[in-house]
Amino acid sequence: MSFFANIYNKKVEIFIMSNIYPLKPKSVLIIGLGQLGLPVAKYVKSKGFDVYGYDIREGAMIVANQIHGIKLSNSFKNFDIYIVCISTHDRDNIHLPQVDDLLSIVKKISYEASDGALISIESTIPAGTCRKIFDLLEHRIHLVHAPHRWYSLDEEKHGVNQLRVIGGVNSCCLKIGLNFYCGENNFSYVEKSPNLNSLTFVDESNKSNLESVQYTIDETKSKNSMNSLGIKMHPVSSIELAELTKIIENSHRYLQIAFAEELYLYCQANNIPFSELRDALNTKWNVDILEPRDGIDGHCLPKDTKMFIASSQKIKSKILQSAMEIDSAYREYRELRSKKVVNPITNIS
Ligand SMILES: NC(=O)c1ccc[n+]([C@@H]2O[C@H](COP(=O)([O-])OP(=O)(O)OC[C@H]3O[C@@H](n4cnc5c(N)ncnc54)[C@H](O)[C@@H]3O)[C@@H](O)[C@H]2O)c1
Repeated sequence: MSFFANIYNKKVEIFIMSNIYPLKPKSVLIIGLGQLGLPVAKYVKSKGFDVYGYDIREGAMIVANQIHGIKLSNSFKNFDIYIVCISTHDRDNIHLPQVDDLLSIVKKISYEASDGALISIESTIPAGTCRKIFDLLEHRIHLVHAPHRWYSLDEEKHGVNQLRVIGGVNSCCLKIGLNFYCGENNFSYVEKSPNLNSLTFVDESNKSNLESVQYTIDETKSKNSMNSLGIKMHPVSSIELAELTKIIENSHRYLQIAFAEELYLYCQANNIPFSELRDALNTKWNVDILEPRDGIDGHCLPKDTKMFIASSQKIKSKILQSAMEIDSAYREYRELRSKKVVNPITNIS
């Protein structure tokens, strides 16, 4: 069944297939048991779901199973929910995005999963990836993107159950995703909405255009209550927006670090003590200069920033491209400095 809705002046077809979703999902397969997937698996298990894990790395499977009691499955058949947490970088270069592995995982799910199952992509992905996935699934299976903000150095505060953004490929996918992640009424939009049982997306840039999609969740209340992870979620009106939020969040962080790197180089060139300057600046209420440390590394910030730059053909972020140059200059500086002992900017030891 489908109907048409006006979203930001565009007529969009919304498919409804929520009647073939298991109302009380029980079994969950976590695909990718690395830094992110393992804590996700442990959390989902702690919420009473029947959790299985799969990874191409045997070591990851052994750790998940033998240390954390996560059951293993090489088969993708008969799960209610599939949470995808696999890496999305090139195998030979962690700074380059790559989603081929993710697409082949989704293909395997599409062959083996039952009708009406839910796939949630929690990995960070380039804008447009979910549409490709949706084409593969032909809407036999629901699809949401709930990009993760998990932070390994502060799991207590920024762990699996922190507030997150979620987007669905259409309204029924989003509704099912919301019910799995947050259960009844645990949407951050509720705070803004006068009607607690509905969720309305409004084009903030054009208040006169209040035409929007409404998700009424009454029918899932009380007797049809689904099992949920109890995580507060912030739903957005399209899956593309959800994809963008994550890569822009990390691009923003990239910029903040690059600014610290540039300031550090500036201090070196002008013989100014960086730490003292930073401490002084950070006494102001709206200033928070970071430490540049070793430069911008790891498999998240550089890759996700590249994903964001590549997300538009029409306008490429100049500020981020400059930030990347600054990061290269900063790393080069550190390398020269460590080798030559002299300061390569001032030539003074
Ligand atoms: N680690 C974080 O702090 C963090 C936070 C938010 C988002 N993310 C995103 O989450 C995703 C995963 O990151 P991570 O830090 O867990 O990476 P990771 O390298 O620690 O783990 C990824 C796991 O995926 C497995 N994998 C790769 N290809 C696979 C395949 N085809 N089938 C099954 N398993 C496969 C790898 O063997 C590995 O165990 C990335 O997109 C990353 O950007 C990570």
